[in-house]
Amino acid sequence: MGDEIISQDMNGGAPCTLSTVASARQPSQLRTLAPYLSIPEVVWLAGGLPPGDVFPFKKVTLTTTDGEEIVVDNPDLLYRLQQYTIEAPGYSPLRSWLKDHTRELHNPPNSKWDVVVTCGNFDATAKVFEALLSPGDVILVEDPSFPQSCSTLKPLAASGVKVVPVTLGSHGHIEAESLRAVAQEVKARYGVGPKLVYVITNGQNPTGTSMPKAVIQEIYDVCRAENMMILEDDPYFYLQLPGSEEAEGAGLDLGHVGSFLSVDTDCRVVRLDSFSKFLAPGLRIGWVTCADPVHSALVYSTQQTTQGASSCSAVLAMELLRQWGRTGLDRHLRRLQRQYGRKARAAAAAAERHLAGLASWAAPSCGMFMWLTAEGVGDTRDLMPELVEQKVVLVPGSFFYLDEGASSSFRLCFASASEEDLEEGVRRLGNVLRKVSATGGPQHT
Ligand SMILES: Cc1ncc(COP(=O)(O)O)c(C=O)c1O
Repeated sequence: MGDEIISQDMNGGAPCTLSTVASARQPSQLRTLAPYLSIPEVVWLAGGLPPGDVFPFKKVTLTTTDGEEIVVDNPDLLYRLQQYTIEAPGYSPLRSWLKDHTRELHNPPNSKWDVVVTCGNFDATAKVFEALLSPGDVILVEDPSFPQSCSTLKPLAASGVKVVPVTLGSHGHIEAESLRAVAQEVKARYGVGPKLVYVITNGQNPTGTSMPKAVIQEIYDVCRAENMMILEDDPYFYLQLPGSEEAEGAGLDLGHVGSFLSVDTDCRVVRLDSFSKFLAPGLRIGWVTCADPVHSALVYSTQQTTQGASSCSAVLAMELLRQWGRTGLDRHLRRLQRQYGRKARAAAAAAERHLAGLASWAAPSCGMFMWLTAEGVGDTRDLMPELVEQKVVLVPGSFFYLDEGASSSFRLCFASASEEDLEEGVRRLGNVLRKVSATGGPQHT
């Protein structure tokens, strides 16, 4: 139960204080009774749990795309699958799996971390912001960044949290020196240093860029020197894309991929992972890896909001992972990487064919996005009517900036379109940009 996790020895964890809201949260009183459930022969007249014999499902059978069957007919599992999520930090077999998996991939160099299962990274982001930020605190955000996270910050900004952009450098990620400079400007201006920096480490949304390991270490060192916590949102970690047909033949290798968690000696990283981009977003399952007091704060806020990720999703995901084992998961991830890699290459090849001289871009090596910057276009929002008329839609770059100001870029998502549609969509974009370049501005009809 949540309370058991909180009593673990994670003292002296993250070098931060909780927000006013998180400090005021109390553990749910009802949940303090939960440990009595395991007393033999206890007569349970306490909780509002429906009994197992009223649940509708007697058996759940899933068939994977490879034709493997996953059958849940064990009464205990069927009960867990249909009951409330009684453990706020997450369904314990899944939590153990996630801990082993996190240890294997990131091997965090501090021993105080634990995981909380969430309803995906978006849910986790909102919970972490709430746990750490009080009016007057400063958060630094990569600019451009994921607009959903920025919109979660808007109500906090209205309550007095300061949201300060850190412009991405020419390599498409923030750089240690500019982060240090912004942190010091913040200190001079507000009298307090930033408390938290929000970063998307791999396959950044929207630029598609990943931070090299050396850059991660440099940024981590700046965060140490300035005593900033790091919120690492990394849903694209697994989507490492083979850059050529030859590279497709190699086995799964995530060892070369960097993460802040893997260098976190002093528990200042709160890492968000998600099943959304490598299993299915409809599961609504992610996990946070962090130390106390953030871990406890997330457990309490989970108890008092979602009560935990869906038991149904958690049990089914766990059964799938159990049945696949390590080999099946690696096979699935490698297949996904090949498929997305081909689409990324198709998007880049279409750009070579149709956008040469009209836009610049970097061939994506991770994630789902390609960031295109149009020549001679002040604000890509102005091109939207023309693009819609040509029947192609991309996201204007302004959507990703904190001030939503003019941007000459677009975000293209190559993951969901077919290779044929990528070719056609980029061709249509090229037609619009060519027209703009010939006439000197967007043509509204
Ligand atoms: C950077 C980033 N964080 C979080 C999310 C949402 O993740 P989840 O589906 O786990 O809530 C996305 C994309 O949808 C994203 O690009």
